[in-house]
Formats: sequence, C-alpha cells, structure tokens
Amino acid sequence: MSWKGLLQEYRSFLPVTEQTPTLTLLEGNTPLVNCQRLSDQLGVELYVKYEGANPTGSFKDRGMVMAVAKAVEEGSEAIICASTGNTSAAAAAYAARAGLRCIVVIPEGKIAMGKLAQAVMYGAEIISIEGNFDNALQIVRNISEESPITLVNSVNPYRIEGQKTAAFEICDVLSGAPDVLVLPVGNAGNITAYWKGFKEYHEKKETGLPEMRGFQAEGAAAIVHDRVFESPETIATAIRIGNPASWRFAVEAAAESNGKIDEVSDEEILAAYRMLARKEGIFAEPASCASIAGLQKQLQSGEIQKGSRVVAVLTGNGLKDPTTAVETSVIKPVLLPMDEKIILDHLQGVSKP
Ligand code: F0G
Repeated sequence: MSWKGLLQEYRSFLPVTEQTPTLTLLEGNTPLVNCQRLSDQLGVELYVKYEGANPTGSFKDRGMVMAVAKAVEEGSEAIICASTGNTSAAAAAYAARAGLRCIVVIPEGKIAMGKLAQAVMYGAEIISIEGNFDNALQIVRNISEESPITLVNSVNPYRIEGQKTAAFEICDVLSGAPDVLVLPVGNAGNITAYWKGFKEYHEKKETGLPEMRGFQAEGAAAIVHDRVFESPETIATAIRIGNPASWRFAVEAAAESNGKIDEVSDEEILAAYRMLARKEGIFAEPASCASIAGLQKQLQSGEIQKGSRVVAVLTGNGLKDPTTAVETSVIKPVLLPMDEKIILDHLQGVSKP
C-alpha cells in the first residue's frame, strides 16, 4: 500500500473532519535508520529519525500540512509565520499547494541559504527584520490578532497535532517507544508534540513512554538557565531562539518523562554533525545534531544508561545549510591539472599538489 500522507494515514488521531481538505505532499513516513557504527562506538542501540526526508526537508511539514489544511477549512486566505528558516519553507510550500497567500518574517542574515532558496521558490512574501526570531514571533502574533491572517507557528495547536505523528511512526517501527528520545529544542514545539504523541499512542496501544531529553544550544539555552536570552547566538541558526514559546510544555515533558532539558556547545554540535555524516553517511543540519551531541554528553555524565535504546530526531536535512558544511569542514577539494597520470600519482601518494 502506498503512503497517502499524514492526514489520511493518522486521520483517527488528528482533528480531521469531513470538511478538512485532503492536503498533502506525502509528508511523514520518514526513515528510522539504525546506526550500527555509532551504536558500537557509544555503547547504545541508536536509531535516527531522519526528518530531512520530508518534502521540504524538515519535520515542519508534519505540522504545516495540518495547520494549512485547517486554515483552508476555516476559510482563511493567508497564513503568516516567524521563522529561523524551516517553518517558512514548509509554510510557503503548503500555502502554494493550497493556493493561499504566505507571509514569512525572518531574522536578517541568520537564515541558512537552502531555506531562503525554498521560501523564494515557493513564492512566499518574505520580510527580513533586523531582529531575532523572538522579535519576529512577537510581530506576527500581533499581526495575526489584528488581521484575518492565520498564524502557523507552533503556538497554533494544529501544528503540534501534525508533529506528534512522528512519535507514532517511531513506535510503529520499533513496536514500542524507545528508552530515550533525544532531540534539539528551539521554540520547544517539537518536544511538546512528541511527548503528546507518545502519551496518546501509549494510551491507545500501550507502546510505553521514553525519557524525553531535549538539547538547546549553549548560546540560546533559556530553558536550561531559566532566563530569557535577549541575544541568542549559535551556529545552529535553526534553534537560535532566546524565549521559546512552548517553554512550559518542554519543562513538563522533561519532568513527566524523567528526562531533562540540557545544553550543548557549538563545538559539540559541529563535532556530532561531522561524525554522523562521516560514520553513518547521514547528513543533517547543525541544529539537528544537537541531539547526537546531547546523547554523547549525557552518556558521559551517566544520565543516559549504556545499552539504552535511543532514538535521535534529526529534524532537518544537511543540504539546508551548505554554507556551514563547506565553511566548517576540514576537507577541501584538491586542485590538480586535468591529467590522469598526475591524479593517479596523487591518489597513490607519489605527488602532493
Ligand atoms: N531543528 C530544526 C532543524 C529546526 O528548524 C527547529 C526549529 C528545531 C530543531 C527546533 O524545534 O522549535 O519545535 O523546538 N525551527 C523553527 C523554524 C523555529 O522557524 O524553522 P522547536
């Protein structure tokens, strides 16, 4: 049976009615990849949920298909969001598909190139502000209250509904929840959605509950330090957020599940980013790799037990941010003359350029 997209596949768990349009780009059903080499190295049973395989390359498609379908159902003609890049890409794509106007507000100069390319291609109206994500979110919240434009950030409950389906997929593949779920935390919508998903599935199917372990970047670790970061900074621009909207729900998810919200440094994120690509052939964007960096940190501290079955959520595709890949990699192309003999000598270590 071919996959029909989230609204049809998980209809009974979602607020889908007779009036809800069957919007889809065939999102969801993303690979849960077993990482044998990293499992051996770390001493756990590691799987990654590769959300970069979604139609616009991130987990945002799960929430956006639901939010945009409901916007259409409710007669809205325009949607708006603030974004560090992925939300805007997903909003723009689903708005295009549904025939809605899409307005995105982004922090100037802090959007990865691939994400900007997407918003442009899908035809969004892009407003770039000299401020950060938190400032942008405040602006779009106010605008959506004052005008007939639907807000599609994760404060829109339909976003959370759509995103919770990733937890269902994990339980379906593993025949139950893992011991531990590790994931990056930005605005904290996704950790909220996963926890809701695991709880709902457990209630219906007794799939069990994982420890929820979320990771912020050190320069944007509001929840960890229990204070707003006025000027959040991190190389992982997707989670460059200083005042997460779903802060309270993230704290709840961690507390209820015996997990934790923790932080990782940019160096740890970049090391995990390279390790995952080199050891497993899996390219995820920097923010996504906060999950792997966090796993390493909490294995070292003993907070995560060796031998645990762990799922790391890789929220976005590595191709979203080619600039960080090229600029932070130690591998550079070797420039050689167009000469077979010289190239062969080079490969055999005979000559150096
Ligand atoms: N990973 C990636 C790749 C993201 O784009 C985001 C959030 C997160 C993790 C964190 O998820 O906000 O639900 O805690 N990106 C939003 C955006 C903020 O605008 O694209 P969260």
